[in-house]
Amino acid sequence: MQNSSPIGIFDSGYGGLTVFKSIAEQLPQYNYIYLGDNARSPYGDHSFETIYKYTLECVEWLFDKGCNLVILACNTASAKALRTIQQKDLPTKYPGRRVLGVIRPTAEVINTYTDTNKVGVMGTRGTVNSESYLLEIKKFYPNISVYQQSCPMWVPIIENNEHLQNGADFFVKEYCDALLAQSKDIDCVLLACTHYPLLLPKLKAVFPDYINILTQGDIVAKSLVNYLQRHPEMEMNLGREKQKSFYTSGDPIVFDEHASIFFGKKLASLKM
Ligand code: DGL
Repeated sequence: MQNSSPIGIFDSGYGGLTVFKSIAEQLPQYNYIYLGDNARSPYGDHSFETIYKYTLECVEWLFDKGCNLVILACNTASAKALRTIQQKDLPTKYPGRRVLGVIRPTAEVINTYTDTNKVGVMGTRGTVNSESYLLEIKKFYPNISVYQQSCPMWVPIIENNEHLQNGADFFVKEYCDALLAQSKDIDCVLLACTHYPLLLPKLKAVFPDYINILTQGDIVAKSLVNYLQRHPEMEMNLGREKQKSFYTSGDPIVFDEHASIFFGKKLASLKM
């Protein structure tokens, strides 16, 4: 295991930058490597086998870069690939290295955002079809009912920087209405895709005021703070030079053009 190891942050593309932003705010002291698999994204509609294969390749690349700890800052990869990587690949090939996802930390605290115990979950088809949120939330809170809505048009709209245009309104309203039609008592809507926080201004306009719209960045960051406190053996190997590197499997020029909307500042990425 390498001393001065960076923390790896992985997403299918840009969305994980919304999570990375919160992590870097709460844990600014560490070194990070972000990897976006832009060349093969969106992951949302790919099969289990494909998402697992792509995610494992990217995790192994981050291991090769010296990361002992990798965060899958992507709901689709967390839903479809994380368990197999944790149960099959890590114990045999990478003991001592860890991969964490975004679904469990979110499910753990979901009860604090609902009074009616009726929660809406909006995500990609992959995340919704995996039923990972249904299962994880049930494990912690059997009294909470979960209503899911897949929103397949949202990632393409956001990736093409059309999310604040009038043209996005139709698909925003369509999926929000479809979710609320499942139960009138939903009082918390989880944005279970790391791209969706960019739609917040539109979502706030469509959902009634009493609905808590929940994004994951701060939840995942707090959970990582907690994880590192509980795992000093991992924490003490982390580098503390405050370095952040950004890699993409796609075109770095295109990545840099889009990435600033997600991360809040201009980035200079490298080719994977
Ligand atoms: N950012 C990914 C997530 O959180 C979705 C994007 C994609 O479909 O690749 O699920």
